[in-house]
Amino acid sequence: MTAQLTAELAAQLSQVSRAVALLHAGELVAFPTETVYGLGADANNPFAIAKIFAAKGRPVDHPLIVHLADASQIGRWAIDIPEAVGKLAAAFWPGPLTLILKRHPDVLDAVTGGQDTVGLRVPNHPLALQLLREFGGASGGGLAAPSANRFGRVSPTTAAHVREELGDAVAMILDGGPCAVGIESTILDLSGGEPRILRPGMIDADVIGAVLGRPPAFGGQHNAPRVSGSLEAHYAPRTPLQLAAAADLTATARKALAAGQRVVVLAAQPPAFSHENMAWRAASADPARFAHDIYAQLRELDALGCDLILIATPAADEAWRAVADRLRRASAGSK
Ligand code: TXA
Ligand code: MG
Repeated sequence: MTAQLTAELAAQLSQVSRAVALLHAGELVAFPTETVYGLGADANNPFAIAKIFAAKGRPVDHPLIVHLADASQIGRWAIDIPEAVGKLAAAFWPGPLTLILKRHPDVLDAVTGGQDTVGLRVPNHPLALQLLREFGGASGGGLAAPSANRFGRVSPTTAAHVREELGDAVAMILDGGPCAVGIESTILDLSGGEPRILRPGMIDADVIGAVLGRPPAFGGQHNAPRVSGSLEAHYAPRTPLQLAAAADLTATARKALAAGQRVVVLAAQPPAFSHENMAWRAASADPARFAHDIYAQLRELDALGCDLILIATPAADEAWRAVADRLRRASAGSK
C-alpha cells in the first residue's frame, strides 16, 4: 500500500470514529450508501430520530429504514421472520434491498411510524459498513436513515448534494464519493401474505422471484400512504418535468418552444432539430447507468433555470421499471 493510500485510509477511519461519537451523542450524521446518501441517527434514541424529521421536513408518520452491519442482527429488530429472509439476505445483502418485517416490540414507534412493521437493510458501501460495525458493535444497534434530502426532493448521490440539501442541519457528512447505484433500494414487504415490492429498485422483480421461487407481487394498498417513496409527487426538481415517448419528443419540444419556453431535453439521442432556446443532455441507453446518473442530472438540469425539462420515457420492461417509477414521480412532483 502506498503512503498516500495509507494516509487516506487513516483519515477515513478517524472520520468514522468521530461520526460514531456524534451518533452516540444523539446527533445526525449523513453517510454514503451504494444507493443514495442517508441521514443517519441512532435508531434507539427518540430524540435523535426527531431531529431527522425536523431536518427533512418530513411528516412524522412516515417510517424510516433501519440500517444494520449484517444480517445476524435482524432478530433484535424483527419477529416472526419468514424463511425467505435468510435466502434473500444471503443473495442480496449487503446490497440495495430493504425488507419489511414484523417489528420487534422494542423498536421505537418513531422509527416505524407507529406501524407493526419495520424496514431493514444492510447497505453495500465500505464506509457505511465500517460505520455500522463501529456504531452497532456487539449490541446490535442500528442507524435509522432516510435519504438525506428535504422531503419530496431529489435524493443526494454525492456529499456535496447533502450539503446543498441540509447544510447545518446535520452534524457531520461522511464523504464516500458518488453512489454506485444512484437510486433508492428496492423495498420488499415480507410482513404478511405474499411478498410484495412496495418500491421498485435496481434489484428487480425477476432476480427476487428467482430467489423466492415465485414472482413477487407489486404495490400494497394498506401501505400506500405510509411509504413516502410511493407518493405520486416525489423525487422532484423545481423546474416542471415532462415525460414524452421518444416518438413524441420532437413535437412536444416544438410546442413548448412555440409557447416561448426554454427547454432542456434529456434523451439518448439529440432532438431532430436545433433551436436557440433548446439544450440537449445525453442520457444513457443502459438502465443501470441511467439510474446511476439521473439524480445528479436532475440537479444539473434544474440549475439551468429552463422552463421545462423534457425526458424521453424509458422502455416498458422490468430492467427500466425503477427508473421509470422515479421519473414518473419526479414529473408529478414538479407541477
Ligand atoms: O436506498 C435506500 O433505501 C435509502 C438509503 C439511505 O438506504 N433510504 C431511503 O430512505 O430511501 P427513505 O426514508 O427516503 O425511503 C424509505 C422508504 C419510505 O418510503 C418509507 O415510507 C418506507 O421506506 N418504509 C420504511 N419503513 C417501512 C415500513 N415499515 N413499511 C412500509 N414502508 C416503509
Ligand atoms: Mg427518500
